[in-house]
Amino acid sequence: MEFRVVFICLSLFVLTYAEPVKFKDCGSAVAKVSTVDIVPCPKQPCELRKGQSYSVNVTFTSNDESQSSKAVVHGVIAGVPIPFPIPNDDGCKSGVACPIQKDKTYSYVAQLPVKTQYPSIKLVVEWELRDDSSNDLFCVKFPVQITS
Ligand SMILES: *[C@@H]1O[C@H](CO)[C@@H](O)[C@H](O)[C@H]1NC(C)=O
Repeated sequence: MEFRVVFICLSLFVLTYAEPVKFKDCGSAVAKVSTVDIVPCPKQPCELRKGQSYSVNVTFTSNDESQSSKAVVHGVIAGVPIPFPIPNDDGCKSGVACPIQKDKTYSYVAQLPVKTQYPSIKLVVEWELRDDSSNDLFCVKFPVQITS
């Protein structure tokens, strides 16, 4: 009986546990990023399995106002940024309540689908969220490994 309780607790822990992803800032001009979370990502660099979708959660505090926010995602392969399509690039429909206000903290939550035709390589994902003037609210980058 006790063993079963411990087992259930452990399973729940493993399922919900998400260590913040180690990211680098690549020019967040308008906001300050506090955490980047990718679910699921049990070990780093995050392994992205083809055919699966991942949830990316970037928590940031804005230093300015913006009516809109637009996400731009690239996969950087050997230093060359290649557009990485996401289903919805509207940040205001991805957990961010627009208009964005100064000194408020937001969690931008988006889906990152990994297409089956992607190559099995290690690359850097560069994720930007741009404001009304096309300035980066945030720009974060983190390494991933695509696997089949
Ligand atoms: C996103 O991350 C923030 C900070 O860790 C957390 O408070 C929030 O609940 C997360 N949102 C989702 C949808 O996981």
